[in-house]
Amino acid sequence: MDESVDIHAPEFARDPFAEYERLREKCPVFSNDRYGGFTLLTRYEDVRAAAIDWRTYTSAVVGVTAIPVITHRDRPQLPIELDPPLHSAYRDIVNPLFAAARLAELKPRVDALSHRLMEAMIGSRDPEFVAGYADPFSVGALGVLTGLPTGDAAKWHEWLRRMFTPKDPAAAKEASRGFGEYIDGLIRHRREAPADDIVSVLLAARVLERPLTDEEIHSYLTVFFGAGFETTADAMSGAAFWLAEEPGRLAVVRDLGERVGTAVEEFLRFVTPIQMFGRNTTRDVELHGSVIPNGRIVALGFGAANRDPRVFPDAEICVPGRVPNRHLTFGAGPHLCLGAPLARMEMEIMLRHLCALTGEIAVRADDQPVWKRRGDRRGLQRLPLSFGAVPQAAA
Ligand code: HEM
Repeated sequence: MDESVDIHAPEFARDPFAEYERLREKCPVFSNDRYGGFTLLTRYEDVRAAAIDWRTYTSAVVGVTAIPVITHRDRPQLPIELDPPLHSAYRDIVNPLFAAARLAELKPRVDALSHRLMEAMIGSRDPEFVAGYADPFSVGALGVLTGLPTGDAAKWHEWLRRMFTPKDPAAAKEASRGFGEYIDGLIRHRREAPADDIVSVLLAARVLERPLTDEEIHSYLTVFFGAGFETTADAMSGAAFWLAEEPGRLAVVRDLGERVGTAVEEFLRFVTPIQMFGRNTTRDVELHGSVIPNGRIVALGFGAANRDPRVFPDAEICVPGRVPNRHLTFGAGPHLCLGAPLARMEMEIMLRHLCALTGEIAVRADDQPVWKRRGDRRGLQRLPLSFGAVPQAAA
């Protein structure tokens, strides 16, 4: 066992990239006993192959997807903790929610939400990007997607914010209970009076020739908000931080014009909000001269893979126009992120609004950015910014 790396140490969470490089080159199968014991894969081809090979690297072990395993649940989260073919049955139910035509229909509302929040944040006295824009935009977009009462968005935001702040486990547990009761209340209401929302869609759905149970509906909603909230906000804050680090960077994105999508992909690669995600081996696996034993927790190192120079030239540099860009930010294989089209849409809207509503963007001199302190995630907790006037040509 190699205990040289602690993935949740603050210095690793802040800047894991030198360690990733060492591991990719010298120790591509990194086994350590911390956090219950797990093996981290860091090379692009290994991570991608493991994500696709669900027979060898199963997701169907409750709680295995988080590193470390923190769950005390006894039922899988849907559809993320299932393997095919059962996984496909559960995923098929929610696939249509993310269809291109449906997202195109929702886009004007997501756009308007972003514009309102961005304008208010830029105009505020001490603009702070995470609380002022990224968090409420991400939660609000999920509200538009799910059709849940948007008037409740502030409530969800507060619950989710607390649920994802591991520093205070009691508050996190309390928030999780509040969110859970809210969802149960919605299920009861919609059973009596269906509406045009996700709960009603799930109540009408059938899996394995029977309706979904309340517990299953609850699980879907928890996963949607759990998987879609912090990740997207982190991608936005990571992108905004890079843009604010040096003058002239926003102009690079502005100059991309209709190719702004390449900047979205590059920010997704460069930030990689989910740095690693878990699986469990179903047999002994031999890889690069090491044996990963059967039943071992394996972390797929999406963040390390996305900086692998075998696949990305100048991998440590953020190049907004980079093409091709086969990043693994949304995973690969059967669990490829369901919400990726929504996340991409939100990122593109954010960049367009930044370019349209501000000229320069910089980290404020009177305050400090704060990175999140979990090595399996990447994003900022606070990002105080200042904004310059929009250049004449772009206004
Ligand atoms: C930048 C933002 C996002 C990132 C980086 C991200 C990342 C990921 C990754 C890496 C996976 C694969 C997990 C695995 O291999 O086991 C995943 C799955 C998933 N994501 Fe996302 N995600 C994002 C946004 C969203 C959004 C907006 C939603 C919307 C609800 C969402 C819903 C899901 C769901 C439901 C799954 C499970 C899919 C399955 O198991 O079939 N994600 N995401």
